[in-house]
Amino acid sequence: MNQSNNKHVPGFDSKDIWQQDKDHHMHPWSDMHSVKEHGAIIMEKGEGCYIFDTNGKKYLDSVGGLWCNNIGLGRSDMAEAVAEQITQLSFNSTFNDLGSLRTAELAARIAELAPGNLNHVHFTTGGSTAIDTAHRLIELYHYVRGNTDKKQFISRENAYHGSTMVGASLGGKAGDRQSAHSYLNTIHHISNPNYYRAPKSMSEAEFLDMLVQELEDKINEIGADNVAAFFAEPILGAGGVVVPPEGYHQLTHEVCKKYDVLYVSDEVVTAFGRLGHWFASEDEFGIVPDIITSAKGITSGVLPLGACIFSDEIFETITADDSGVYFSHGLTYSGHPVCCAAALKNIEIIENEGILEHVKEVGPYFGEQLETLSDLAIVGDVRGSQLMRCIEFVADKETKTDFPEEFNIGKWVSDHADKRGLMIRPIVNLTVMSPPLTISKEEIDFIVSTLRESIIATMDELREKGLWGGDKGS
Ligand SMILES: Cc1ncc(COP(=O)(O)O)c(C=O)c1O
Repeated sequence: MNQSNNKHVPGFDSKDIWQQDKDHHMHPWSDMHSVKEHGAIIMEKGEGCYIFDTNGKKYLDSVGGLWCNNIGLGRSDMAEAVAEQITQLSFNSTFNDLGSLRTAELAARIAELAPGNLNHVHFTTGGSTAIDTAHRLIELYHYVRGNTDKKQFISRENAYHGSTMVGASLGGKAGDRQSAHSYLNTIHHISNPNYYRAPKSMSEAEFLDMLVQELEDKINEIGADNVAAFFAEPILGAGGVVVPPEGYHQLTHEVCKKYDVLYVSDEVVTAFGRLGHWFASEDEFGIVPDIITSAKGITSGVLPLGACIFSDEIFETITADDSGVYFSHGLTYSGHPVCCAAALKNIEIIENEGILEHVKEVGPYFGEQLETLSDLAIVGDVRGSQLMRCIEFVADKETKTDFPEEFNIGKWVSDHADKRGLMIRPIVNLTVMSPPLTISKEEIDFIVSTLRESIIATMDELREKGLWGGDKGS
């Protein structure tokens, strides 16, 4: 992304700002050389589904920030709620026996909205820290029950659970594993449930059986007495918006119950409306997990907040004896009153504006319209659910042959989309989309027509450079 030709924008010099970012801001998850060479697009303001860079260029943000802008950018009602809380109580610690009004109110509200008996919440600063909290809580739970060997965890290939030591170790995306970093060796990965990449001869039912059996085999291989928990996103997000075969979560949940393995549903992306429900675990996938981790849409990304939501059973277990069992975990900003006020306002807005119902209306439309791109020669798979969608690009549809990873083909498409005023998220050979939940059908039409143009422009460029068989293109 190159924004070096910035014009002067009243109020600040956009060229200076661009340079300051280039010289001093280390971006997360970035190609160090590329950002150093080309700089970044610097955003100035946002309104609803739109974001504007410092040149005044307008983009439809089909990424929803980073799966988190649920209610739309720039809302004054949210600003007022946050400002009011800052004036009333801008911070207090929730360590030990301290609390705050909004924190208690939000915990109770989440207990109401969460499935089954998930009635207890530990607040964190985001998704990764909610995952760390779950890990700590699980260790404590097994410890007080005398199961001190239960220290091994199971996750899946292509999973994404964040960027802290625990989150990164649970993560299963091969490309994310950098040799510079170390990872926990107590985490084991099983196959990801992407039927598009299943062996060609396998039916979906056979694929499902294989996945469930693999989990059971993995538990037995490690030894059930050693396995503490299974972590799973209801739909794998950053790993390619993978919707598992129907029944997958119910069957894996049953396997976990059979072996006294806790089931953690990582709803950092899927909770708070993205699939048309407060939480997807039960309403969409029919399970009540032991723990749900959540973040992002909980405040619509307005302020950083995460939540580790857990069952009565876990709560009763860790609070049962009075011998001084201590939860030695927590963050300065756990239960921050201003972030909790933002979350309460966010929930109120989602409820008052019928946003969950809106998602159920526009979500299928988004899917149908994206499907129309399947006629394009490099569109291998179009998948997802409601407002969580993905396109997988391939060099050959028949054989599902990938473009070489170093092509970073998703980035080619997103560069063409940027020029046309559409932000999409490239992940190697994928384009991932998670627009604000307030998106209209007209805006969806813009996304799909701009994507078509951008994919065609990418195919033309590939042909021009002689990097792809032009006669195969449409
Ligand atoms: C499923 C899932 N879990 C955890 C995380 C980590 O959240 P955060 O970036 O807020 O730490 C993410 C972030 O994208 C996520 O998608």
